[in-house]
Amino acid sequence: MGYIHVTDRHGKTHNLEAVEGWRVMEIIREHGLPIEAVCGGACECATCHVYVAPEWQEKLFPAREDEEDMLDELPEISQTSRLSCQIIWSQELNGLQLTLAGG
Ligand code: FES
Repeated sequence: MGYIHVTDRHGKTHNLEAVEGWRVMEIIREHGLPIEAVCGGACECATCHVYVAPEWQEKLFPAREDEEDMLDELPEISQTSRLSCQIIWSQELNGLQLTLAGG
C-alpha cells in the first residue's frame, strides 16, 4: 500500500491511497478527482493528461510511441507531460507527485 499526491486545478494537493497494478488514472478517478479519462485507458483520448513532478519523471517507464503521439496532439504539454492511464502504479512509485492538466 502507498500513496500518490495529486494537485488539482485549484492548486490543492490530495493524498490518494494507491493500489498495486492500478493505472494512475484509475486511482485518481476512484478517489473522485475530476479526470475525464473518456477512453477508459485505451490511450485514445488524452483526457487523462497529467504533469509529473520532474523528480519523478525518470522513475517512470518511458512513454510508448502511441502515448507520445497522443501527447503531441495536446495544445499544452510540458517536458513532464504523461497520460496517467499509461502509468501503472507499483510500490516504487509510492509518493508519486503529479498535477492534473487542463480543465
Ligand atoms: S484515458 Fe484516454 S488516453 Fe488515458
